[in-house]
Formats: sequence, C-alpha cells, structure tokens
Amino acid sequence: EEAVAWVAELFRERRFPRHTLLFVEGEPGDHLYVVRRGSVRVFRSAVSGREKILDLFWPGDFFGEMALLEGGTRSASAETLEESVLLLLDRPGFERLTTRYPEVLVRISRVLSQRLRRANVQIEDLVFRDCRSRLARTLLDLTARSASGKPWGTVAEDRISKHELASLLGVSRETVSRTLMWLQEQGLVRLEGRRVVVLDAARLAAVAHSTR
Ligand code: CMP
Repeated sequence: EEAVAWVAELFRERRFPRHTLLFVEGEPGDHLYVVRRGSVRVFRSAVSGREKILDLFWPGDFFGEMALLEGGTRSASAETLEESVLLLLDRPGFERLTTRYPEVLVRISRVLSQRLRRANVQIEDLVFRDCRSRLARTLLDLTARSASGKPWGTVAEDRISKHELASLLGVSRETVSRTLMWLQEQGLVRLEGRRVVVLDAARLAAVAHSTR
C-alpha cells in the first residue's frame, strides 16, 4: 500500500472530453500516459489526410513511452475516443519511478515486445491478406483482448465505429460494412446495430488465416 501511495503521487490525473487530440506525431513529448477510464487511439496520418490506427488503448494500458524512453519525438498521434480519465507521468517522475522500481522497465519491455509482435502481424496482413481475412483477424484480436479484461463490448458500446475499424484495417468504411455483411451471411458473426457478435470463432480463424 505504501508503494502504491508513493507511485500514485508521481502521477497527475486529468479528464479529457471525447475526441481530444492529446499529441501529434513529430512533436517532442515527455509524458507517459496511463488510461484510467475511457479509450484512446494512436494513429499516423498521411499527407492526403487519410489515417491509419496503429492501436487502441483501454483502462490499464499505457502509451507515450517511446518519446520518453528515446528522448525523442512522438512516433504517432493520440486522441481520446470518448470522455477519458488519464494519468500522466512526467520525465522526472518516470526517472524516480524506474530508479526505485527497476522492474517497471522489465514490464514495459514486455509490453513493447507484445506490441512489436502485433505490428509484425499487421505488416504480414497488409502484404498478404485481403480485407475479409484482416477483418476476421481484427475481430478475433479484439475479442481476445476483451477476454483478458479489455472491454470488447466496445463495438457494441459504440466505442469502435466502422470508421475506426476501417482505419485499423487500412480500408474504406464501405469496405468494412460490405465485409461485415459477408461475414454475417457466412454465419460467422451477427450484426446488432453497432455490435458485432462473434458466432463461430473457429471458422472466423480459418478466414483470418486464408491468404490472397
Ligand atoms: P510515443 O512515440 O511517445 O507517442 C505515440 C505512442 O503510440 C508511442 O509512444 C507508443 O506508446 C504508441 N505506439 C506507437 N506505435 C505503436 C504501435 N505500432 N503499436 C502500439 N502502440 C504504438
């Protein structure tokens, strides 16, 4: 308890309205963020204005560690998807935390390794797989994250829109809608408003693994 109280002192809690741009890729950054409530997307923008979501973060997740660790600039932009409460840790706080509890750095590297794995899968998907397979894999990924405490109700609860799914997959919103309909016709999912219910995870996995 004493340790938790000491750590909590280092963080500053802030509430942000829905769709607040927290920071933009390329700018210097010296805060790490932890999601306490709500959700955040990190994304890269092309000159054309199109965006690609790299990942979504929910309560318990952290982001913004890369600029802090490298002493460099933000590698992507971040925006709240809904009203969110975030905990901010500045550089001196981060240094005090990791000096006193070096195991925090081990935990952070573990998460960075998991993110690199997921980025590798995304690269493979973008090169080798069509939209059906990418959507199937993304739905399974979101479901798996909900199983480990992440709110996959998300699509249901209006947190991930088709627009965001499209940006995660790197395709248009119309393509996402069409592909969701196709998955429904195949009996793999059921669409309930904005909610996508996975009916047959095994067959969805088969679609996810099919190549072009
Ligand atoms: P930072 O570069 O400080 O700001 C953007 C943040 O987005 C970055 O730290 C990471 O926390 C996060 N981020 C960047 N790229 C990825 C990725 N491929 N997968 C998950 N998170 C990422």
